Amino acid sequence: MNWKINPANEIKGTIAVPPDKSISHRAVMFGAISKGSLKVGNFLTGEDCMSTLSAFKAMGVPIEVNGDILRIKGVGLKGLKAPEGRLYLGNSGTSMRIIAGILAGQEIEVILTGDESLSGRPMKRVIEPLAKMGARIDFLEKEGFAPFIIKGAKAPLKPIAYSMPIASAQVKSSVLAAGLYADGVTSVTEPFISRDHTERILELFGADIRKDKLTVSVNGLKELEPKDIVVPGDISSAAFFLVGALLAEKSDLLLKGVGLNPTRTGILDVLLRMGADVRISDIKKGPEPYGDIRVKNSHLKGTVVAPSEIPLLIDEIPVLMVAAAMASGETVIRGISELKVKETDRIKSMGENLLKAGIEIISSGDDVVIPGGRRRFEPSRFISYGDHRTAMSMAIASLFSSGESIIDSVDCVATSYPGFLEDLTRVVKLAGK
Ligand code: S3P
Repeated sequence: MNWKINPANEIKGTIAVPPDKSISHRAVMFGAISKGSLKVGNFLTGEDCMSTLSAFKAMGVPIEVNGDILRIKGVGLKGLKAPEGRLYLGNSGTSMRIIAGILAGQEIEVILTGDESLSGRPMKRVIEPLAKMGARIDFLEKEGFAPFIIKGAKAPLKPIAYSMPIASAQVKSSVLAAGLYADGVTSVTEPFISRDHTERILELFGADIRKDKLTVSVNGLKELEPKDIVVPGDISSAAFFLVGALLAEKSDLLLKGVGLNPTRTGILDVLLRMGADVRISDIKKGPEPYGDIRVKNSHLKGTVVAPSEIPLLIDEIPVLMVAAAMASGETVIRGISELKVKETDRIKSMGENLLKAGIEIISSGDDVVIPGGRRRFEPSRFISYGDHRTAMSMAIASLFSSGESIIDSVDCVATSYPGFLEDLTRVVKLAGK
């Protein structure tokens, strides 16, 4: 499937962005291994989270799905059953990495597989610390990549103090999940803070979690007590509309119920620094804070994004590149090598698409420089490379082209934002209409 996108001059209205992907995954994962029942409201039924849901159903967890409401009957820490056949996790790196941590401590044998993109993503980053904890894991085809087999643990795992070489919430969460099965305190130290949804949900479920600056630790072998959860909107999905409204000639857009966890709001900080008219209101506190974001057309200027900010906006970098291309002055994004190992190499996918649009981004070492000053992009035929965020970022760029653009292979958008085009069409007024 492809999209044809025409230039726009107005973005106005209200959008309730889809539920947060990271929190939806964790609600199922930790709900499934808790001891009790819980209801999850506003669950993201995109393909990635459905991969997680199907995986736990296949391991014997009763989960009732009613629209975006789930009722999960947790089976307890060690209650998962071996699935029939392999656990297929589609395109979802979060599912594969965190589930590996949970399975490290179970007494069952499971093979994890994924689609072509997921089978090309690095898994050693989780398998190495899990192996140090005593997990028995073997790669089945290519060393370091899925598919791999996790063979049941015979005894509690060994607690470790793990110093992560990269800031990755997936790795941190995988080690903490395994820490639930360790006999003592497992701790993880990251080079920079990454999203802390796992820490928050484990705390909510009564786990013995401690946080101290860049280190988080969990004391294992304690059953989780579930609580009902309502998932807030996904700031990563909101980011496409934020950038669209900032760049449109006339705009006034209200994004309702967006997750505002401070480990996810890096995009707001950077856009504010670039001169964005973005206002937050109606903030609701709770295990995961959320609120409304109102955004209006703004003149953006280039900025420098520091390595410590990267984990706080990792998934928003593709659309930030689009904003930066239209800002005055250049933008430098430092320390973004992790972007190369996402659903696709996003430095390459965005670099090639933006080049077609008339912008040459310069990648050197771990940094990327985006020359600003573009008034209109050149219309072209863009390619998603099977990556949802590349597809949606180029859809936003296409609104500011001088003619109709096409985005090829957009089916991948269903992984995180199935209704993206419908939402976009609803708030955009095309130029000349
Ligand atoms: C995620 C963490 C991030 C992010 C991904 C979701 C999570 O990956 O890119 O889309 O839910 O933990 P890393 O933590 O590996 O950078």
